[in-house]
Amino acid sequence: MIEVSPRGRDSASRAVADTLAAQLTALHFSAKIVRRDLAAEHLPHLDEITLPAISTKDPAEAERLKDAARQSDELIDELLESDLLVIATPMWNFGIPSALKAWIDLVVRPGRTFQYSNGGVLGLAKGKKAILVLASGGVFTEGPWRSWDFVEPYLRQILGFIGIVDVQTVRAEGMNIPLLATNAVPKANNAVLELSL
Ligand SMILES: Cc1cc2nc3c(=O)[nH]c(=O)nc-3n(C[C@H](O)[C@H](O)[C@H](O)COP(=O)(O)O)c2cc1C
Repeated sequence: MIEVSPRGRDSASRAVADTLAAQLTALHFSAKIVRRDLAAEHLPHLDEITLPAISTKDPAEAERLKDAARQSDELIDELLESDLLVIATPMWNFGIPSALKAWIDLVVRPGRTFQYSNGGVLGLAKGKKAILVLASGGVFTEGPWRSWDFVEPYLRQILGFIGIVDVQTVRAEGMNIPLLATNAVPKANNAVLELSL
């Protein structure tokens, strides 16, 4: 479970993710939920050391740079071992927060989560489900702002790229619209009960 919002108890995406975690525990009582709090963790951006460390094809170079690849290795192992990936994130400036992009840049890695094959791309993180828990100030499931949503389309595309195609979405939307805000989280919590888990 990847949680992104720095707003703690005020966070709509975290509140709905908590409901989802409780529902998962109720349905699969032996399930282990691994939570990654990206607001607390501050993952690094790819730089002149981590980029070659996670992308080199030269085994000697990979060995030399293995310490710099460790965080990516750990996040990828965690993802590959999981049956279900939950990403709970706010919309910021119509896209994902950079903390989530940093996680994506560390886990979308050639040879580990995807590979090039026969002129195409093969996702290696197959056989998993994903659930997107998305919070936004506006409404993006319908109406004039729909085409401004660069969160759900991007996340579905990048997850598909690494082989995760079974993706469901729950939204707490309208958080900045007083008439919608009060009911947005309860509505999303109800939608959690409708998910196929
Ligand atoms: C920096 C920032 C940028 C935001 N940008 C958008 C935006 O582009 N569109 C939108 O609908 N809401 C935007 N919002 C509102 C948040 O998406 C909304 O408050 C949501 O509830 C945040 O998720 P959280 O409650 O889990 O933190 C923004 C909020 C912040 C703090």
